[in-house]
Amino acid sequence: MDDAAVHVLVFPWPRQGHINPMLHFATALVDAGVQVSFLHTERNLRRLAHAPPVGLRLLSIPDGQPDDHPPGFLELQESMSTTGSAAYRALLSAAGADSTVTCVVADSTIPFAFDIADELGIPSLAFVTHSACSYLALLSMPKLVELGETAFPADDLVRGVPGMEGFLRRRDLPRGLCCAEKCGEDPLVLKLAEVTARSSKARALIVNTAASMERSALAHIASCTADVFAVGPLHAKSRFAASTSLWREDDGCMAWLDGHEDRSVVYVSLGSLAVITHEQFTEFLAGLAATGYAFLWVLRPDMVQMASSALLREAVGAAEGGRGRVVQWAPQRDVLRHRAVGCFLTHAGWNSTLECAVEGVPMVCWPFFVDQQTNSRFVDAVWRTGLDMKDISDRGVVERTVREVMKSDEIRGMAQAMAQQLRRDVAEPGLSSSEFERLVRFIEELKH
Ligand code: UDX
Repeated sequence: MDDAAVHVLVFPWPRQGHINPMLHFATALVDAGVQVSFLHTERNLRRLAHAPPVGLRLLSIPDGQPDDHPPGFLELQESMSTTGSAAYRALLSAAGADSTVTCVVADSTIPFAFDIADELGIPSLAFVTHSACSYLALLSMPKLVELGETAFPADDLVRGVPGMEGFLRRRDLPRGLCCAEKCGEDPLVLKLAEVTARSSKARALIVNTAASMERSALAHIASCTADVFAVGPLHAKSRFAASTSLWREDDGCMAWLDGHEDRSVVYVSLGSLAVITHEQFTEFLAGLAATGYAFLWVLRPDMVQMASSALLREAVGAAEGGRGRVVQWAPQRDVLRHRAVGCFLTHAGWNSTLECAVEGVPMVCWPFFVDQQTNSRFVDAVWRTGLDMKDISDRGVVERTVREVMKSDEIRGMAQAMAQQLRRDVAEPGLSSSEFERLVRFIEELKH
């Protein structure tokens, strides 16, 4: 490593939905002539399905968890902030493997990354892998609690998130997993609100979004942070075409899609973390079957509580007589780009939302947790590029909503207009592209 050079350490939260956008970000920095090291956990480094982009150096630290144990968010926060943080400190400090680092860009959910960088005198920036709207909702949690607006489920509009007073309901607020009566009492949401508040104190925030999608939320965030760079959607112009997956993709589904008419298939995926009950699975399956459309369904082996993947495949096969196709993990960006896909039934994770938006595919949303609740409200009520089923997974609702979205020229028109705008944003001299250039200059100046 050249001692005089700008050298950025990119540190994602060790989950698929965080690694993907930060890997595209790191690749873009390399392309801009910046030296970049990318920090994985040891577990994820072993799991990587593909080689990294050329020019990117990979490093790793332990996550403090046994190998056979897939930890939850809070558990991982705990072990990363002890075992992981000690290794991170050693890596960055004078004698460490990355002592030439001039700037850390860490995931907004890793507070110790900022604290330790501060202690060592290294400037740090926070990277937000979720939407600006959900970041603002998390940042507003103290206000929402103060106003008593966190009880759900409820259709009441909330006043506590600036700029969203006219359409954001209590049921669109970030939600955890423990079924707490109020999201303001949920341990996961509280933790995320706490780390969000910490990240807002960083030198700057980098958000994987476009101003054309989230102008108002970005302006409100800018008013309470030092600087904000909206540089997304990063995958849309990434040179790193290979997958960033931790799972092996089943490419066979592409040939299966080739055999279908244009816009005739429903693509179904709930991302990398959602776990559904057997009853929810049955309702989705019955609803999809009743639409009469072919569907491609990503069912990770660990995704349905108490059910083996063989059993699930059998259930889909029996119900569908061949019209359904199940994979454990799909090449999602290729699938969304395929002419046969007519809509995406999604959990509205932010990467999935952006990948879908860039391809102009209409969405049916069934948000699972946290940011997805807010994203799905924006899809339905603000961008009008899809419909939001919210917390309902009843077969009748699934059938009606999928049918409506597959048939709606209006929704498809909105989705396609958004796709065109996003492509302009990431191309030069689009707004996201200019913001990325401004960010590179900002990072270069931090060295002086
Ligand atoms: C969650 C949050 O919802 C997200 O907003 C946050 O930033 C990260 O954590 P996740 O459940 O993983 O993320 O969903 P999503 O953000 O949509 O990311 C999933 C990624 O996995 C996408 O990039 C998608 O393309 C990829 N994927 C998913 C595949 O490559 N194949 C699949 O079969 C399913």
